Amino acid sequence: MKNKVVTNLTIERIATEGKCVGHHEGKVVFVQGVAPGDVVDVRITRGKSSFMEGEAIKFHEYSKDRIDPFCSHFGTCGGCKWQHINYDLQKTYKRQQVVDQFTRIGKVEIPEVMPIVGSANTRYYRNKLDFTFSNNRWLTREEIDSGAAFERNALGFHIPKMFDKIVDIEHCYLQGDISNDVRNELRAFALSNSLSFYDIRNQVGLLRNLIIRTTSTGESMVIVQFGGDNAEEIDLVMNFLHEKFPQITALLYIINLKKNETFNDLEVVTFAGRAYIEEEMEGLKFRIGPKSFYQTNSDQAYELYKVTRDFAGLKGDEVVYDLYTGTGTIANFVAKQAKQVIGIEYVEAAIEDAKLNSLVNGLENTLFYAGDMKDMLNDDFIAAHAKPDVIITDPPRAGMHDDVVNMLLKLAAPKIVYVSCNPATQARDVALLSEKYSVDKIQPVDMFPQTYHVENVVLLTLKS
Ligand SMILES: C[S@@+](CC[C@H](N)C(=O)[O-])C[C@H]1O[C@@H](n2cnc3c(N)ncnc32)[C@H](O)[C@@H]1O
Repeated sequence: MKNKVVTNLTIERIATEGKCVGHHEGKVVFVQGVAPGDVVDVRITRGKSSFMEGEAIKFHEYSKDRIDPFCSHFGTCGGCKWQHINYDLQKTYKRQQVVDQFTRIGKVEIPEVMPIVGSANTRYYRNKLDFTFSNNRWLTREEIDSGAAFERNALGFHIPKMFDKIVDIEHCYLQGDISNDVRNELRAFALSNSLSFYDIRNQVGLLRNLIIRTTSTGESMVIVQFGGDNAEEIDLVMNFLHEKFPQITALLYIINLKKNETFNDLEVVTFAGRAYIEEEMEGLKFRIGPKSFYQTNSDQAYELYKVTRDFAGLKGDEVVYDLYTGTGTIANFVAKQAKQVIGIEYVEAAIEDAKLNSLVNGLENTLFYAGDMKDMLNDDFIAAHAKPDVIITDPPRAGMHDDVVNMLLKLAAPKIVYVSCNPATQARDVALLSEKYSVDKIQPVDMFPQTYHVENVVLLTLKS
């Protein structure tokens, strides 16, 4: 089947992970980058006995629901793949994904899935972006065909599935404030001073990576990762940023001579300003260091946490467990409405942030522990702490380990509020928990407009 062209395929609906679906000779065909209602010719890239995958090579009809993508990088950059679908429909499809996962995978009795909580900002909603410097800029087909010579240094995003190709970003609609200015000014400065952009294949080059974090309170953190340790050149870059953007709250750098870009094990140097920035929510302050996790859409994180707190229905005398607590944001957010909150998470640095955030906010009824959930949440832990009245769980995309699900069944807390960024694994875990729990509420929240991603909160109540 590979490379065969299926003609005049009508795209019927959106399936998981943003792929669209049509049918050909009784088989499902998954296609990227199209919209329900499009009629397309598809070149098959993968053929299996029950399904095929392919790419659209010719459009015969465009869906009436299509809109013009607003970004010049759409189609090349992997960032905002749903720009061609209007936002109301994006929300409908996201909610439908939740319904599909719970009916197909979960196969549990569910209430009506509530309309998704939409994002007021559908652009400039991210508070963190990670740009890569490269000496191997991605060239478009037109650029290659023109035969002209082009600047090959770039600062932008990876091409999906290509670790060594970078799209040079002129304007990104994901992050507001100073993000576009810092990136473009720094690239121009580097080019005019002939500073080297990173060569990932040979692992050499001064400028490696740029991370920009912002807060809803107007603070900003800029982190430059250097792939070389020439002190004079590093100073040149950092002084330029400091003078050009004196408003940066935390101007930091890292010398990373390792093979990968992760820097959890590296020293972060504060060049100017503070070593952290501060986000605020309902008067609570959350300290964000260069290595701290924080939900990337601050406004929607607030919506998500309000739904979570509302589902928990706290009156003030409950013991709450916040599993996979990260930097303890949910734990600290609900602490004033609970008797005690216990957060567990395996990244030790995140647990240190969680404790600091309790301290900064004068919250004295929180406890945080670092460790792998399946090892931490055992009989000894429960014996040493109060039994939970409410469990909030927010695991990574893979969902919860079987041992954790079994422990939740054994604990039999009256309520579980399950927050997830992957309704498929959430539906799987909820099906296991349905042995003792009924599904009372399902509330999707949109954290990432212009993408297929959906966050979902489920309230589970112990069956009587
Ligand atoms: C979706 S995030 C939770 C974020 C947090 N609730 C918040 O809103 O900021 C999932 C968290 O689970 C942690 N994690 C992943 N696997 C884990 C495990 N096996 N045991 C404990 N924590 C884990 C990750 O480090 C991450 O902080």
